[in-house]
Amino acid sequence: MTLDAAAMKKIVAEEAVNRYVKDGMNVGLGTGSTAYYAIKRIGELVAEGYNLTCVATSVQSEDLAKECGIKVVGVDDVDKLDVTIDGADEVDPKMQLIKGLGGALLREKIVAAATVNEIIVADDSKLVEKLGTKAPLPVEVLIFGHEHTKYALERQGCKAELRMKDGKPFVTDGGNYIYDCRFEGIDNPFFLESRIDVIPGVVENGLFLNTAFDVLICDRDGNVSSMNEKLSR
Ligand code: 5RP
Repeated sequence: MTLDAAAMKKIVAEEAVNRYVKDGMNVGLGTGSTAYYAIKRIGELVAEGYNLTCVATSVQSEDLAKECGIKVVGVDDVDKLDVTIDGADEVDPKMQLIKGLGGALLREKIVAAATVNEIIVADDSKLVEKLGTKAPLPVEVLIFGHEHTKYALERQGCKAELRMKDGKPFVTDGGNYIYDCRFEGIDNPFFLESRIDVIPGVVENGLFLNTAFDVLICDRDGNVSSMNEKLSR
């Protein structure tokens, strides 16, 4: 039997929670359709009596968490997060990531930086040999001067498109715009990140490099594999 994407996301998200979330932990809640199932499972653990302190990476995830009976605090209310479970848009063979198609990359990166073990959950459609071959790279920018920021982004070798929603520019939880930058593959993500980060007006980029402690992947048969375990062999 071949599973559909939603079933794969549910299996891998629940597996990540079961494997990595322990009673008493501070837990980061990711954003997106895969992280959704992780938040639901964390809600079940809380209902079973787990004492978890959670930090959300978006307003959307915070609202869902509260509906699930999860206690949510701000990132500055905790010293660190023991684990965060989040999704990704692309995962390369070294667990380097593109994130942000859900629009939450800024808070996701801040939460990831405060996290000891960042766990990424994805179905196998997110696997790529080279970053930037399937998904665009989202870059969050200040609204002030955003067209100049766009031209500077395009000088890095991409086509940058302002993200729209309901006929208007999409505005992030941080009050910024996003440019989705299409590359024909990113040869050196570390170099590209260093070039993007010095462009005036750039707030954050969707490259999550050396961030994941583990990436759990679900295949169409429902088997979950750990990239950390594979890479450590
Ligand atoms: C949101 C993200 C998401 O984690 C990413 O877009 C994956 O989402 P999904 O699980 O819905 O495919 O980075 O900013």
